[in-house]
Amino acid sequence: METKRIDDRGRSETCQKCDGTGFVAERTSAGRVLVRPCDACNELRNSHRRTLYLRSGIPRRASNEINVCRATRDYADSFPQIKRGNNWLLYIGKPGAGKTTQAIWLVCALIDRYQTRARFYNAFDLVRRFGALRKRNEDFERAFDEYLDAELVVIDDLFKIIPSEKAFNYSDYKETLLELIWARYDARKPLVITTQRDFDVIARFDSALAGRIVESCAGRVVPFDSQAKNWRSEPDGRFALPRGW
Ligand SMILES: Nc1ncnc2c1ncn2[C@@H]1O[C@H](COP(=O)(O)OP(=O)(O)O)[C@@H](O)[C@H]1O
Ligand SMILES: [Mg+2]
Ligand SMILES: [Zn+2]
Repeated sequence: METKRIDDRGRSETCQKCDGTGFVAERTSAGRVLVRPCDACNELRNSHRRTLYLRSGIPRRASNEINVCRATRDYADSFPQIKRGNNWLLYIGKPGAGKTTQAIWLVCALIDRYQTRARFYNAFDLVRRFGALRKRNEDFERAFDEYLDAELVVIDDLFKIIPSEKAFNYSDYKETLLELIWARYDARKPLVITTQRDFDVIARFDSALAGRIVESCAGRVVPFDSQAKNWRSEPDGRFALPRGW
């Protein structure tokens, strides 16, 4: 289901209260004319936003203001101009360094600014889900469309768990994961990956995958170091996550 599109100034084209201008004029008791934002548009925008947040699948976190690193901010700023192809972003570094937080912020920012249809997946869940779905065609198609159709996909914690090569499900795992990532690559669609693994681990898993990640990130590889706390050094990128996230 597609929700009604609202323009970037929060006006609904079809609003009858304000004729799609986003503003209503009111005469005060003193006879002055006051112009204020249209409530109906406001409400529509908020519910649209809420819907996009819910559908994105970003994990809920009790978080207030966070700091945002430059690479994240640049990506959000340039998202509308970002070219088809070579539009990926990789956060790489130790657990607890703040990678997932950057990815969540990014999804929130894109929804707020551009009403981006984004999907956030935990890598392990994603592979498991698609691995199981493959056997049931209809569900697979729907889930896959959703995945491929999203304007932005986040795959969080890629390779946190890699089954041993001897495990019975290894080839299934690998095939599913590669199929999913190749699909975004072939469609030249934005993908954000977070991983705690070094590059050689990725290359050992599949060297073509490692190569394509580097190529598609086109320099947007952001090392995250829990010691350096990248996000502390960029205080001007503050952004308040919605309440309850
Ligand atoms: N930008 C930030 N601003 C404030 N606190 C942060 C920020 N990034 C991370 N943190 C804190 O560090 C914790 C771990 O961050 P997280 O993004 O989950 O790390 P990673 O995904 O790299 O393991 C968070 O729960 C949060 O408390
Ligand atoms: Mg994480
Ligand atoms: Zn209106």
